[in-house]
Amino acid sequence: MSGDDKVTGHYGRGKLLERLEAALAEDGADSARPSLEALAPYDHFHGRGLEATSEIADTLEVAPHHHLLDIGSGIGGPARWMHHRFGCRVTGIDLTAEFCDVARHLSGRVGMGDALRFEHGDALAMPFAEASFDGAYSMNVSMNIADKGAFYREIRRVLKAGAWLVLSEIARGSGPEIDYPVPWAASAEASFLSTPEETRRGLESAGFEVLRFRTTEKEALEFGARSREIVARGGKPPHRAVILIHAEGARAAMANTSRGVSEGRIVPIEILSRRRP
Ligand SMILES: C[S@@+](CC[C@H](N)C(=O)[O-])C[C@H]1O[C@@H](n2cnc3c(N)ncnc32)[C@H](O)[C@@H]1O
Repeated sequence: MSGDDKVTGHYGRGKLLERLEAALAEDGADSARPSLEALAPYDHFHGRGLEATSEIADTLEVAPHHHLLDIGSGIGGPARWMHHRFGCRVTGIDLTAEFCDVARHLSGRVGMGDALRFEHGDALAMPFAEASFDGAYSMNVSMNIADKGAFYREIRRVLKAGAWLVLSEIARGSGPEIDYPVPWAASAEASFLSTPEETRRGLESAGFEVLRFRTTEKEALEFGARSREIVARGGKPPHRAVILIHAEGARAAMANTSRGVSEGRIVPIEILSRRRP
């Protein structure tokens, strides 16, 4: 099995749309024309879900004529949110074909089919011309990418001079390696974590200026505690993307992640940078 197959096999298990429709119906939502709010627990497939997407959007200046790139766009929740928030065009690219199909389908259902495009492809060789985009973001994707230098250089190629890049990802902390599975990998073979400092240096040497760098372990742990309280009171956890995508493997993946964060073995980070001319 190639590296790419390990990644796509981990995420694309088939029948995702059917499972999502069943989950929406169980929530009492209209699965034929779901609102962004109804989709939000499922379609932001990264730590803290919509809460994190929306915090990132708050740090950006985006105009309606801008064209953004979503690298590793998943089933499209962040792209739909950016369009909803800023009125801009967004193009997503993702290695998992099933995610691209579901992303297109859901975007059509919420009436955003014309503004959003989802390409099936590899972030290391994107089918876009140089200097195509005004800004780019990548949420919880780089952990599947071994060659971070090639990843950053390819992003730089397709960004206009001065365009911004946001990366939100899980970095390596201290102490022993995390336990698997985690939401992004079934085993260490598909997981490639850099330390926060390696990430900063890698971006700088690929031609980005780091403008803002923060770790969000406190936010992650608080979100986890709030979710557990809701579940203890009989409610559904507010973020259900991992459960939707990994089904029976979700519980272990989430437990390993939250233990990894609380023990400092992994650290969620968010970086805002700008492409140098
Ligand atoms: C944890 S999901 C995050 C999805 C989305 N960014 C979100 O936050 O909802 C990671 C995504 O990265 C994609 N991915 C991993 N390696 C990739 C690569 N080399 N090129 C493009 N996409 C990739 C996976 O297919 C998966 O959809």
